[in-house]
Amino acid sequence: MSNEIAKRAFLSRPPEPPANMLMNDPLQAIYIGSTKIFEVPFSWSFSNLTNPHIAVVGITGSGKSYFVKTLLVRASYIWNSNAIIVDFAGEYKNWVKQSGGIVVALGKGDYINIMDLSGMKPIDRTKQIVSSLEILTDISSFPEQRRITEEAIEQSYVNYGFVPSERPQMGKEGPTLKDVIALLQEKVQEGTYEYPAELENAIYRLRQFAREGEDFFARKSTVDIGKLANSGLVALDLSALPDERFRALAALFILQTMKEIMRSEGWSELKGLKTIVVLDEAWKVASDDRSEAITIVREGRKYQFGLIVASQNPTDVNEAIFSNVGTTFILRIKFEKFMNYLQSSLNFSPFIRTEISKFGVGQAAVDMAFQTSLRFPEIFLLEKVYGEEPLSIYTIDVTGVLTESELGSQVVDKEYQMEKEELRNKLVEYNLTAEEIEKVFSSMEQNGRRMKVDTLVRMLKEGGISVSNIVMFLKNMGVEDQVITRIMA
Ligand SMILES: Nc1ncnc2c1ncn2[C@@H]1O[C@H](COP(=O)(O)OP(=O)(O)O)[C@@H](O)[C@H]1O
Ligand SMILES: [Mg+2]
Repeated sequence: MSNEIAKRAFLSRPPEPPANMLMNDPLQAIYIGSTKIFEVPFSWSFSNLTNPHIAVVGITGSGKSYFVKTLLVRASYIWNSNAIIVDFAGEYKNWVKQSGGIVVALGKGDYINIMDLSGMKPIDRTKQIVSSLEILTDISSFPEQRRITEEAIEQSYVNYGFVPSERPQMGKEGPTLKDVIALLQEKVQEGTYEYPAELENAIYRLRQFAREGEDFFARKSTVDIGKLANSGLVALDLSALPDERFRALAALFILQTMKEIMRSEGWSELKGLKTIVVLDEAWKVASDDRSEAITIVREGRKYQFGLIVASQNPTDVNEAIFSNVGTTFILRIKFEKFMNYLQSSLNFSPFIRTEISKFGVGQAAVDMAFQTSLRFPEIFLLEKVYGEEPLSIYTIDVTGVLTESELGSQVVDKEYQMEKEELRNKLVEYNLTAEEIEKVFSSMEQNGRRMKVDTLVRMLKEGGISVSNIVMFLKNMGVEDQVITRIMA
């Protein structure tokens, strides 16, 4: 009797959704991997889900970024999707470069003018800038400062010939935060303003983002922001910015711009995703109630805009995002409190919980919110996220070449990566013999495809390559001059 019931319970609640919900039209869905129990090839599509947005959670090294890359590549094949990755830790830049995408490196030569309108009305951009200041600074506690700041931003647009409530001409040069500061300073000079201390403080707050050397957002943009949503694969590398506040400002700005672009491009009849916005480890930006990430989650579906949020800490992702995404990928989770949070929000069984805690790299539990409430579990286990055959990446390590004190506040890359064929071609180009080249590769193989830069330089010298060619080789790889000088000394 109890046997019978147990069997029936199993039949009405199998451990995976039915295969027809997991296997979608291969021309309109993204293959992810096989399910663990019935080995069903699972391909992801949002056609029968509440929305296209995805949350990816798991400890560091569990495979979050790998999954995101796999998904973006396939989305671009299948739907021709564009992607813009807000890359806090600089984890995507090499991959994006290798994939022929665009890397915007803030703090390393690229600038974004947060006053760029990209087709937006000045009053709307003004509100957005003030909203970013509210998230990142204490401005909301000082209504008078908030008011004069907002007024000065709007006035700067007027001074550049814009009409606050009208959409601007494309390509027309606009003001920067430095113009706003200058306006406020004029007020100080005039000396007629009632609350001079408020004025000083408002100036001081804006200056944090406009100081020489830290004016990453207060200069003419080096990229056309308005085009970023339609430029294939784009990574906004924020890793070289001095602190979290700068990174968050960039991310908030990009989200605001993406939201505007999404709305202005309007409803789309495409089946797939037009643009995917990725926030990887974007703590403050994914957690704040005022972040436009939430707007994208609310409205994205009708515009074919998808948001992917990846985080090692699920409680850092705003509830409005976490409880509304159509799909959650749970990779390995270690901390009990994160597991408790996930289990109570997604309501999975103790069996799934145990499995999640045992996951290896790339193994995942997938929870999907189907549009119709059906009688099957919404969560299932994936044997492994099935990636493209990874490129053979070789890494040249330059750590330790410059001491901490020599580095000071400078940001230099710690490693440089090259695909095997690219590295081989370079070595051939500099006339290293086939035998010497094999020596370099086999030595790198033994060391996890890595090599310290001084070892490489020694091997190149032994191979008879001239000092000037070695310097060229390192320069070509992008190694900083100061580092090269030291290695060659
Ligand atoms: N599904 C997978 N198959 C093969 N290798 C993987 C897989 N997922 C991750 N890896 C590898 O594991 C390492 C850590 O993955 P990563 O995506 O950077 O983790 P996270 O972003 O969660 O910190 C990387 O070297 C990556 O190439
Ligand atoms: Mg990662």
